[in-house]
Amino acid sequence: MTGLFMRMTMNSSAHTVLIVVYVWLLSSGTFSYGDKRDIDCLRAIKDSLEDPLNYLSSWDFKNSTEGFICGFIGIDCWHPDENRVLNIRLSDMGLKGEFPQGIANCTSLTGVDMSSNKLYGPIPSNISQILQFVTSLDLSSNNLSGDIPLDLANCSYLNVLKLDNNQLSGQIPAQIGLLGRIKTFSVSNNRLTGPVPTFSNATISADSYAGNAGLCGSPLPACKGPPKKSNTGSIAGAAMG
Ligand SMILES: *[C@@H]1O[C@H](CO)[C@@H](O)[C@H](O)[C@H]1NC(C)=O
Ligand SMILES: *[C@@H]1O[C@H](CO)[C@@H](O)[C@H](O)[C@H]1NC(C)=O
Ligand SMILES: *[C@@H]1O[C@H](CO)[C@@H](O)[C@H](O)[C@H]1NC(C)=O
Repeated sequence: MTGLFMRMTMNSSAHTVLIVVYVWLLSSGTFSYGDKRDIDCLRAIKDSLEDPLNYLSSWDFKNSTEGFICGFIGIDCWHPDENRVLNIRLSDMGLKGEFPQGIANCTSLTGVDMSSNKLYGPIPSNISQILQFVTSLDLSSNNLSGDIPLDLANCSYLNVLKLDNNQLSGQIPAQIGLLGRIKTFSVSNNRLTGPVPTFSNATISADSYAGNAGLCGSPLPACKGPPKKSNTGSIAGAAMG
């Protein structure tokens, strides 16, 4: 019994030593999980996009010097000698494809500008898991289609959200108005309909909504109110008849 007890004690202290060593290795930067993820992130972005103008051909993953991705075109790092991506700026590069899901592995990202490219397909419905801490998202002037996902309302650090000049349709989720840090919001020139959100903390001008057939509500002309009771009754009656 005593032997077993001693073995258990030794095992748990051995575990403690292992954990201490592991934490020391992490903090000393001998190896860093974050680094590998950011490299995977950029590799996934490059792999998922057509790049007819060869902007991303300079993204060379063979050189594994600490901080090597920080020299890539369109990539800002937190520190030049640490593979941790701060911003991705790939505007106007002729890039074509769906929104790159692999961007989720850039876990320290605060800004994404992929405007003026040829992105198509939907904005991912789990966008807040992909861009958890992003303060600025510019996907304007692409060919994105489908709804504006409700989950964008969970990207609670957003200051800037630009989705103008795409093919987005449906209603703008009212919950977008709950984004408390929004300063710039633009969805002009899409195919959106219905009421615009009411922002609790920002004044968004009518320009931001221009070029959509069916948007309404301040700062645009008021939406037609919901049918009055008597109307609903007569519509229901008509439908039944
Ligand atoms: C690897 O990248 C670092 C940082 O960008 C650079 O200084 C170094 O010259 C590169 N090495 C090779 C072999 O390309
Ligand atoms: C993140 O990278 C890992 C490999 O390191 C990969 O298995 C995973 O699918 C990536 N996540 C996304 C969302 O692409
Ligand atoms: C935000 O995230 C929570 C859970 O983290 C989820 O329950 C909720 O539905 C999300 N909201 C939106 C608008 O997607």
